[in-house]
Amino acid sequence: MPTLELPQFEWSEGFACGVDLIDRQHRNLVDITNLLRQAILRDDTVSSANSVESLQAYARYHFAYEESWARDRGMPQAALDQHARRHQAFADRIQAMAEQDGREDGDGRALHRYLCTWLADHIVKDDREMVRRLLHLDGAKA
Ligand SMILES: [Fe+2]
Repeated sequence: MPTLELPQFEWSEGFACGVDLIDRQHRNLVDITNLLRQAILRDDTVSSANSVESLQAYARYHFAYEESWARDRGMPQAALDQHARRHQAFADRIQAMAEQDGREDGDGRALHRYLCTWLADHIVKDDREMVRRLLHLDGAKA
């Protein structure tokens, strides 16, 4: 069944970075991802396209916030640049996939799959690590 290929993104505490505003923004990204999923399951191409546009706009806002949060807390420039490049690569890929779906009448499933995988991976590996370092949450072990 299609639903099996299109799982709901379930938020769990494993995704929490511990910074309230960043966590809330991540949850909003997850909510928009799930709206896209519902639109795809309904074959509602207008809602799908709207969800992708909302996602892109909210991701831009969130990435800018997260990068300035990290800069304000002294993230070294090289690490900041690397993190920002990952955000940009994601935004570029989503844009390219949305354009391809538009050209080829795609159903958005590949974009949804990439979105889920990237978000989960980036939040757990990059964002949580960034917050841990900047707030010295590992300090007690040293
Ligand atoms: Fe990030």
